[in-house]
Amino acid sequence: MITGKPLFTVEHIQNRVKELASKISEDYEGKELFSVGILRGAFMFFADIVKLIQIPMTIDFINVSSYAKTASTGEITVHTDLRDDIAGKHVLLIEDIIDTGLTLRHIREMLLKRDPASLKICVFLDKKSRRIVEVPLDYVGFEIPNEYVVGYGLDYENKFRNLPYIAIFKKDT
Ligand code: IMP
Ligand code: MG
Repeated sequence: MITGKPLFTVEHIQNRVKELASKISEDYEGKELFSVGILRGAFMFFADIVKLIQIPMTIDFINVSSYAKTASTGEITVHTDLRDDIAGKHVLLIEDIIDTGLTLRHIREMLLKRDPASLKICVFLDKKSRRIVEVPLDYVGFEIPNEYVVGYGLDYENKFRNLPYIAIFKKDT
């Protein structure tokens, strides 16, 4: 069951995505970007933000999973790696949410070994109070409390990803 009204409405989301995209466009002025979407959760945020970033870019995706239902297992499986080589490129990792930090730390360390010119991280949601490992975040959409959220790409058991807004999820008891 999805409870209450949206935590972030479509309008709220779009305004924040615009702000993040402007900041990214400013910061990368004169460079070329290699944007990496982390599937599956980031697909909607990724599609929205890249449309608004005014920097030449190439895109790629990495498909990982880290979650057993709503409890982080700490184990990250890379289902599909990047197709392109990132050596010498300005990589921007785009992720839906950071919780314990284990997923992003794993991906970041894996990609840093491939010698990108730079690697920055953009996350839409930050559940800061749940962090187990520190990961440097360059762009954050919203900080959220310790609640399980769905929609705008985020799932519960792979459902609700298509909701256009973010809602707090509570299981029926
Ligand atoms: P971390 O490794 O604990 O930082 O978890 C990150 C991953 O867990 C994200 O990429 C999401 O797939 C998933 N996740 C964490 N919190 C939520 C949530 O509230 N809703 C949906 N997915 C979540
Ligand atoms: Mg994810």
